Amino acid sequence: MFNPSTVAFTSRRRALQRAAAVAAAGAASVCGWAASAGLTIRLSHVVAEDTPKGLAAQRFRALVEERSGGRIRVQVYPSARLYGDHDEMQALQLGAVEMLAPSLSKFGRIGFAEFELFDLPFLFPDAASVRRITQGELGRRMLARLSRQHLVGLGFMDNGFKHMSANRPLLEPAHFVGLRMRVQASGVIAAQMRALGARPVTLSFSETRQALATGVVDGTENPISNFWTQRMHEVQTDLSLTQHAYLGYAFVANQRFWQGMPAGDRHLIEQALREAAQYGNQIADAQNDSALQALQQSGFTRVHVPDPAQVARLRAAVAPVHDGLARRVGQQWLSDVRQALAT
Ligand code: LMR
Repeated sequence: MFNPSTVAFTSRRRALQRAAAVAAAGAASVCGWAASAGLTIRLSHVVAEDTPKGLAAQRFRALVEERSGGRIRVQVYPSARLYGDHDEMQALQLGAVEMLAPSLSKFGRIGFAEFELFDLPFLFPDAASVRRITQGELGRRMLARLSRQHLVGLGFMDNGFKHMSANRPLLEPAHFVGLRMRVQASGVIAAQMRALGARPVTLSFSETRQALATGVVDGTENPISNFWTQRMHEVQTDLSLTQHAYLGYAFVANQRFWQGMPAGDRHLIEQALREAAQYGNQIADAQNDSALQALQQSGFTRVHVPDPAQVARLRAAVAPVHDGLARRVGQQWLSDVRQALAT
């Protein structure tokens, strides 16, 4: 029987052993970098290649390799092939990979609960309002704080807004009661599910489809490009377009690797990343729209849209989640976000 906690433990332990071994090699390569002719950046992420993040990562690789004349190589490892949610942050901190692009929801458990601001349900009306934070002073402050954990925050990127899936429509709080809902490791998302009457179950992204298929969990939330590329619609009968919260990413690098690079290369990489993230932002909506179309045409899943009264009930049920985060990270973060959204 599939046991997520055993899988998680075993994979974490193996990954740690692997990361520690690779870290030694990684440290050597960073130290030897100045004398060597080239450099390889390993960029690991957990989603499929044909998602906004997967395509932005490929664009980043193409830009870096072209502009460096092939001197800097980027190896992209999608779909948690190298590291998954349980171990990718440790792998980055140990230098077993040079870069990651985790969802913002995954920074809380390494000590940056303020990143869970982005998970707050019904806070952001659209992606443009999220950019007021990510492209502004607040976003820069959040990225700068990552240095406390020896990470370099290089920039943000959108996926889009999340929706709910299960083997029944999820259009108002009563529909969630008693369901086990897979969540990312975010206190805000867990609190949101509890506020709706469901039980949150934290699982890594790569385990989610199997957990849905085997009934370990009853439902989940994600933008449609993630549902579609994981083929979650084949194991869920109903998708409800609740658009209740945002999902975005931060590109982060290992600090030692970053500081060991000549300024010119840092600049090249920053510029390529900025352009790749802009590209990702441009295609994210279209990727999610075409995934919705494909998913509807597949005939596996019924798609539902909540009416305004149902949205109001969902919104009212999850409102206390905002105060819960304010208690954890301090009211000032929430006030700063609200002020940035109001200006
Ligand atoms: C998830 O775990 O549901 C997402 O964060 C995956 C991703 O990176 O989009």
